[in-house]
Parts: sequence; structure tokens; C-alpha cells
Amino acid sequence: MHFDLTEEHLMIQKAAREFAQNELKPGVIERDEHQTFPAEQVKKMAELGFMGMMVDPKYGGGGMDTISYVLAMEEISKVDASCSVIMSVNNSLVCWGIETFGTEEQKQKYLVPLAKGEIIGGFCLSEPEAGSDATSQKTTAIDKGDHYLLNGTKNWITNGNSASVFLVMAQTNVEAGHKGINCLIVEKGMPGFEVGPKENKMGIRGSDTHSLMFTDVKVPKENRIGEDGFGFKFAMKTLSGGRIGIASQALGIASGAYELALQYSKERKAFGKEISKHQAIQFKLADMATRIEAARMLIYKSAWLKDNHLPLDKESAMAKVFASETAMWVTTEAVQVHGGYGFVKEYHVERLMRDAKITQIYEGTSEVQRIVISRAVLA
Ligand code: CAA
Repeated sequence: MHFDLTEEHLMIQKAAREFAQNELKPGVIERDEHQTFPAEQVKKMAELGFMGMMVDPKYGGGGMDTISYVLAMEEISKVDASCSVIMSVNNSLVCWGIETFGTEEQKQKYLVPLAKGEIIGGFCLSEPEAGSDATSQKTTAIDKGDHYLLNGTKNWITNGNSASVFLVMAQTNVEAGHKGINCLIVEKGMPGFEVGPKENKMGIRGSDTHSLMFTDVKVPKENRIGEDGFGFKFAMKTLSGGRIGIASQALGIASGAYELALQYSKERKAFGKEISKHQAIQFKLADMATRIEAARMLIYKSAWLKDNHLPLDKESAMAKVFASETAMWVTTEAVQVHGGYGFVKEYHVERLMRDAKITQIYEGTSEVQRIVISRAVLA
């Protein structure tokens, strides 16, 4: 066992850090304020290879390992969690899903432009009445021979307006329950596809979250991923790995807030000395650093399992629940360290605190992660 990062890992980490500090930091407060989608920044992320990091180079990706992806996600999330969720959904859900389970034709047609970041992808599982209870899909994909007729509504779709390609879970055979669900690759321009209004969110306000409506959308049979009825397993397997991405996002949000609090504590004076010289602040910093490091270890372990093609459902759920709760706790403490300055936008920590909250909700709430973990430990 060794914990060293390779030269390549360090280079990727440095590139992501420089990109985040130089290109994302300026303007991040304004993008959050006005809910501006970071189109230019995503274009640059694509140029740097961050949109398809783990995809095989023969499909236009970076061919990197999951640790590299975790490192890049952390650095980008320290500064702009809106950018990192766009990146995470594209990398770990859409690209990974198509590369792992798609046909060669699907890979050539969709994966190549997605991995190069020429287009963005979205992942559509949640519905108005199917969030955590994901088997209760109401969206239908009726088998019409050479195509499926897709009808229904999907909720909370990251990249909802900006994506060109969506992986949509829908029920083909109601009697078969979750075994009757399929995953279809749906293109934005298909007739009957409609994008609903943008959600006005508490955090990750730069990312565009929308409902999507499908009315008699004809989706060719060749756009189904895997065998008939594979859709729910596909979603679960994809989300298991995807949770490493969101855990890394949470880690980045936590470390970003911690670094700001650390810096501020060395500058701000109270009661005649820097606040970092007061034990009340020192203990907060110590706890922040400890929890962040523990979250990092859980994430690295999950990433290692993924790269070694080992089971990771329990570990990625542990990483996600722990990292997201760490992010919420650390950002709240970072605001506290900043006092009144933490409550205003210029100091960044209030945004990180708002952004942290979603990591406890999407790609499975903390409660869902505990279901996954408890089932594994009780099995
Ligand atoms: N891998 C493979 N198969 C799996 C699996 C996995 N990780 N997890 C479950 N399955 C299979 C089960 O084996 C079972 O199949 P069989 O009947 O053949 O054995 C089937 O799927 C149903 O599983 P469960 O009985 O465990 O289903 P459940 O109804 O009890 O639900 C759950 C389990 C863990 C709560 C699941 O519904 C879940 O993960 N819900 C949360 C969904 C979620 O994460 N949504 C996020 C939306 S995407 C998003 O947020 C992206 C974004 O935009 C940021």
C-alpha cells in the first residue's frame, strides 16, 4: 500500500488548480449571483481535457485513471462547484455509461463528441414522483418495433438546457417493475422534446437545472443502452461510480472553504492577536483538516476500487455521505471563522456553504447512501 501521487497525478492537479484559480475564480461571484451558465469556462475545460478524462483516447478521451479525475474535481470544486457538477455529470455518468455499456455505433456517434467536450451530456433518472425511490418511474418508452415512443417528465436535470444528449430512464414494461426499465439516448432536437424553465437554486447557481418534458418522442431502437430491461441496473451501476465524482466535489468545496478560513485566520486580528492564535479557532481548523483528510481517504479508496474493477457500491456511498456531510460542516465552520465577513459574498465562503448543501442531495441523498451502506453491512 502506498499513498503517493504519481508525477502525472501531480501535473493534473497543478493544471486543474491553475485553471480554477486563474480562469474560474474571476467572475464566479457574478455567475452565482446571476445564475450564468459558464459556457466559456466549460469550453476551456474541454480544451484542457477535463470533460472526458477517463475515456479511452480512441474515443477522444484522456485515458486517465479515476484518481486523476478526483484530483481535478477537487481543485475545480474549491473555486466553482457549478463547473464541477457539469464536469462530473459529463464524465462519470454520461461518458462512463456509454463507454461501459454502449454499442460501438453509440460510442462513435455520442461518446466521441462528449469526451472531447464538443457537446455536453445529461442524466435523466429523477421524476416529480421518483427521486430517491428511483424504481417508481412514470416516464414510459413504449416499444413500437423500430423505435420507442417516449412520454413523461424528468426533474432536476443538471445541464438541462446546455446538454445535447441525455441518458433517459423510462418504463417499457410496467408489469416487470424495475426489470422493465430501459435507458435511451435522447437528442435535444428530437421532435416532442421540450426543456422546462430553469430552477432558481440555493447553490451551484451557475449550472443549469431544468425539468425536461417528452411528448411522443420517437427514439430509435439503436439508442437503447444494453439489453431490454437493463435500464435500472444501468442507472444504479453508473450512479455507484458517479458518487465518487460528487464526493470529490464535496471534498473540493470543503477544502476550498478550509483554505480560505486558514488564510483569513492568519490575517484577522482580535483581542490583540491573529485569530489563528486563539485556541477556539485552532481547534476548528484542526477538526476541519482532519475531516477533510478522512473524506479524501474514502474517496481515494473508492477511486482505486473503480480503477481495479472491484465492487465499490458500499465504498462510494460511504465516500459520498461522509464527504458531503464534511462539506456542509466545514463550510459552516469556515463562515463562523470569518465572522460577519463570512456572511457576505466577497469572501466566497457563503457560496461554498450554499453549494455544499446539494452534495447531500443529488446522485442519491445521504439517506440513500445509508440505505446502500446498511444493506451491504447487513448482507
Ligand atoms: N449495481 C447493480 N444493480 C443494482 C445496484 C447496483 N449498484 N443497486 C441496485 N441494483 C439492482 C438490485 O440488485 C435489484 O435488482 P434485482 O431485483 O435483479 O436483484 C434492482 O437494482 C433494484 O434494487 P433495489 O431492490 O435495491 O431497489 P430499491 O427500490 O430498494 O432502491 C435505492 C434502492 C438505493 C434507494 C435506489 O433506488 C437509489 O439509488 N435511489 C437514488 C437514485 C439517485 O441516486 N438519483 C440521483 C439522480 S441522478 C443525479 O442526481 C445526477 C445529477 O444531475 C447531478
